[in-house]
Amino acid sequence: MALKKPLQTILTGVWRARNVRGFSAVPEGRVSSQSSQHLIDLEYQCSAHNYHPIPIVFSQAKGSTIWDPEGNRYVDFLSAYSAVNQGHCHPKIMKALVEQTEKLTLSSRAFYNDRFPVFAERLTSMFGYDMVLPMNTGAEGVETALKLARKWGYLKKKIPRDELFFFGGPRENLLEAIIVSCCGCFHGRTLAAISMSCDNEATRGFWPLLPGHLKIDFGDHRPLRKYLKKGDQIAGFLFEPIQGEAGVIIPPDGYLKTVRELCSKYNILMIADEIQSGLARSGRILACDWENVRPDVVILGKALGGGVLPVSAVLADKDVMLCIQPGEHGSTFGGNPLASAVAIASLDVIINERLPERSDKLGEELRQQLLKIQQQFPDLIKEVRGKGLFNAVELNSKALLPVTAYDLCLKLKERGILAKPTHDSIIRLTPPLTISLDELREGSKALQDVLEHDLAKMKKEKPNAPSHTASNTCDRCGRNLYGSS
Ligand SMILES: Cc1ncc(COP(=O)(O)O)c(C=O)c1O
Repeated sequence: MALKKPLQTILTGVWRARNVRGFSAVPEGRVSSQSSQHLIDLEYQCSAHNYHPIPIVFSQAKGSTIWDPEGNRYVDFLSAYSAVNQGHCHPKIMKALVEQTEKLTLSSRAFYNDRFPVFAERLTSMFGYDMVLPMNTGAEGVETALKLARKWGYLKKKIPRDELFFFGGPRENLLEAIIVSCCGCFHGRTLAAISMSCDNEATRGFWPLLPGHLKIDFGDHRPLRKYLKKGDQIAGFLFEPIQGEAGVIIPPDGYLKTVRELCSKYNILMIADEIQSGLARSGRILACDWENVRPDVVILGKALGGGVLPVSAVLADKDVMLCIQPGEHGSTFGGNPLASAVAIASLDVIINERLPERSDKLGEELRQQLLKIQQQFPDLIKEVRGKGLFNAVELNSKALLPVTAYDLCLKLKERGILAKPTHDSIIRLTPPLTISLDELREGSKALQDVLEHDLAKMKKEKPNAPSHTASNTCDRCGRNLYGSS
């Protein structure tokens, strides 16, 4: 198919930018002396079983390509949950890492270092906020935003403390400053973050959850209006502009604008978790840019560290950020010079390689390819959705039974494509934003081949598994969030 002109221009720019020694080098033969199976067994034996990985061992990676220890090649369609938007081992990011490693790696914020102020200036000017608070992982960024919102709530909004607050919901969640969040959201794995979660696996056995929290439906104007207007005690509304872990759920047009209007009207901090949706993933630098909406607080993570180091950041204006005083919050590694140097390079790559535009155009291309597959298998594919290269294929779980999205991902892996399911019936497709058109087509072709050539055999061979309908019902809100027709 002939390339559309603007896409061609973007790609030419990226090919030129990639023409740096090392980025396109291909390993030959074995890349590691230990076999994949040995390493998988070793991890199973010595590491906690807190993940259920697809059995492929990454040994080397460049751009969108992964090699396992045996030298087999794969195309990455997960990007480490969008932490590798710039592509694996991007030469400019690696150069920044190596140069900084040789000079200084950690000062702690007990002292100043000569990289963090430069990173802080770069980030705040790029996103148009007064200040940044640096952390490491995304979950820490979320924790920071929650603490900031509570502090702002008491100091600036003058939320009364120890008063009982009653919305008609469960009382134990409704004392003091309240944070509202959305059903289906994912904000990380700390206790505060899982307190927002509708994921039974993430919360069961870890109670009691954090109080001061209220959940409402995502993407629906009505509960938002209903609850925020009674918002004297609400400090913040925390949300993902596009819900990633829930299966790339895109709110209806106008939703983000309504959130902005209501938060402004009722003096509630609009807190956008852009850890996964931000930094060009959705085809805009922030997913909130799709509606030209400016949140009060933005949380960044993942691709801020260019797939190299954990770097997260909370952005806000002085009125909010200065509610936190010295000694009240921080992290030994937050704002370290190595992370700062890497983050500056990661931002440079996003801008210089025009990754938002690239993600936008390639995302359209990918969805065109996926929609054609849906036309071929209308009973199997319920929906293709996405923005930019933030995409999901939702399968009809009944038509698929007893096969699951996880099983399909195993077959995709055999065909050289690495993707991960969310829930039983959704495959998320989020390749590095530097992926080539040919690699993108490899991904779609593999999915088509799995449905056309592998699925019937898989159904015959897999014993009927018990239905998972019960576990789809949220323990907390009672909704069946991930049920499929
Ligand atoms: C929207 C969102 N917020 C927070 C997090 C947590 O980030 P981390 O795993 O770096 O703690 C994630 C991770 O997937 C995420 O997608």
